[in-house]
Amino acid sequence: MSHLPAETRPRVTLPQLHAWHHAGRKLVMVTAYDAATARIADAAGVDVILVGDSVGNVCLGFENTLPVSMAMMNHHLEAVARTHPAAFLMADMPYLSYHSGVEEAVRNAGGFLQRGAQAIKLEGGAKRLPVIHALIDAEVPVMGHLGLTPQSVNPMGGFKVQGKQKSDALRLLEDAQKLQEAGCFGLLLEGIPADLAAKVTETVEIPTIGIGAGPHCSGQVLVFHDVLGLLPGTSAKFVRRYAKGFEDLRGALAEWAEDVRGGGFPDERESYTLPEALRPALSQWRP
Ligand code: KIV
Repeated sequence: MSHLPAETRPRVTLPQLHAWHHAGRKLVMVTAYDAATARIADAAGVDVILVGDSVGNVCLGFENTLPVSMAMMNHHLEAVARTHPAAFLMADMPYLSYHSGVEEAVRNAGGFLQRGAQAIKLEGGAKRLPVIHALIDAEVPVMGHLGLTPQSVNPMGGFKVQGKQKSDALRLLEDAQKLQEAGCFGLLLEGIPADLAAKVTETVEIPTIGIGAGPHCSGQVLVFHDVLGLLPGTSAKFVRRYAKGFEDLRGALAEWAEDVRGGGFPDERESYTLPEALRPALSQWRP
């Protein structure tokens, strides 16, 4: 169904995602941050659009996601929601929006739902259980996020693959169970060995969505700008580029600039015509 154009497919819901998962269909999720990227993602027929806090590094020029605030996330979520995507719409809880008490977390997550999100995602394992319980009690569907959790960049000492030590791998497997028991509807697994992600996927009922977690997850997510090659330089190992967005767009803009400078743009095709009757008045007019 969801390979149909956005206008002709029904809105993806949580039960629909679970039905697809149980039918063995891989789930496809991509980030979007504004109306333009959301329209492209939705027209491509993805199942889930994530307004990720990666907006911080991808669009806002920050080095990591820590400076991203609720105000920023709300601004970007509202832009995406105004396009009324058919894809399931999920929003990322930014740093400090769920760390200082469950009440604040519920208010922030509830605000996402009021702005059009159908679910939220938050980072962390067992220590997030009180917040996850409170959110689910407040009718907020929650996706967990385990492994390389970018908001933990400081304790992790950088963006490093997680779960390579026995104790970390076992903790991750236990966290996955606890998050499932708490009622998370899915788990995002980031930056972990493929075998570990496969084991999580095998041992939970809920779908796992991988990024840098190998091919055995129930679905995959990538950052919009990564899939389309919109960022300069080389990509991380886990990214596959399906377009040369940066080069193609730079080339197109450079061509337009050359046309402007050489007088080739605009010509009659991009210009409006004066009504015939106005011509005499225009040529007779003097300042
Ligand atoms: O914010 C984000 O882009 C993410 C990725 C892991 C998809 O959370």
